[in-house]
Amino acid sequence: MKAQLENIYNSAKSDIEKAQSISDIDEIRLKYLSRKGEFNSIKKGLKDLSDEEKRTVGALANQITQDLEGLLKEKFDAFYQKELNEKLQKDRIDITLSGKYIPQGKVHPITSTTNEIVSIFQSLGFSVISPELSPEVETEYYNFDMLNVPKDHPARDVQDTFYLKNMPGAVLRSQTSGAQVHVMENQKPPIKIIAPGRVYRNENVNARKNNFFHQIEGLYVDKNITFGDLKGVLNEFIRIYFGAARPTRFRSSFFPFTEPSAEVDVQCIMCQGKGCRTCSGTGWLEVLGCGMVDVNVLRDVGIDPETYSGFAFGMGVERLSMLKYAIDDIRLYFNNDKRFLEQF
Ligand code: DAH
Repeated sequence: MKAQLENIYNSAKSDIEKAQSISDIDEIRLKYLSRKGEFNSIKKGLKDLSDEEKRTVGALANQITQDLEGLLKEKFDAFYQKELNEKLQKDRIDITLSGKYIPQGKVHPITSTTNEIVSIFQSLGFSVISPELSPEVETEYYNFDMLNVPKDHPARDVQDTFYLKNMPGAVLRSQTSGAQVHVMENQKPPIKIIAPGRVYRNENVNARKNNFFHQIEGLYVDKNITFGDLKGVLNEFIRIYFGAARPTRFRSSFFPFTEPSAEVDVQCIMCQGKGCRTCSGTGWLEVLGCGMVDVNVLRDVGIDPETYSGFAFGMGVERLSMLKYAIDDIRLYFNNDKRFLEQF
């Protein structure tokens, strides 16, 4: 019986050595070690042996079974590892493949310039008014009357201002200055605000002028506000906005709602002041109008001009952006040409 056990052991061992796969291993296990396998049928003969033989042959049978289990497991593990490696190799994800291009939108340069200007004024203590105090469809009352603009002023002409056909007295605002009146009607001094927004003018469109554009209105009303405060704030704004020193000039001017009035020009960046198409040969681009709030305007909204004074300004966002980024034509901002917009 010992010899029989050894024979089976040897034949199982050689089968295991020849095995090629996990399923071969399974078959071998079935053939030798299962309940109906060869070992079991021999072990059944144990009961006919003497006690002494039972002990030695039984121990041998157990030893052989254990050895075979060990060999099978070793082989199984090797095949399992090999198959796993092959599978991992086959299913590998190629992370070197480039991703799908998903184009991202960008903030329009007019919006980003507006945001930049707004945050500069915020750093100087101005706050942005709420939009209902600054509507794009305005009445002549706010756009002109309350700003001390005479009834026969040329700016009121249909050649300059868009009137709404079915709404008598309503205009597409030609300036953000009406916001000053709304604010002063709603708030007592001290008032220190800005109001960004779009304005419309019946213009012949050219490199410098479009029939709509964007402004940022500013107003500071308090006790003892002087023209020196106005110059200080605007010079500081220009210094921060342009970074490096840019030639600028304060030029005396006229607006019905300020007295005295001024305009600020910045040297044309396209020609460095030599004169070109963008600045129509002058070497300068006007970027804002400003002045001390006219006493009539203060009085009309019920602010006592004996106690309070103020300055105001209105700046052109497109002009400021053109001067910063050397854009030679205002129309580029509104053509929606992606090649232009993507550069910002
Ligand atoms: N509203 C003027 C314009 O559109 C600009 C302006 C000038 C605004 C003087 C002001 C100001 O607030 O005080 O040309």
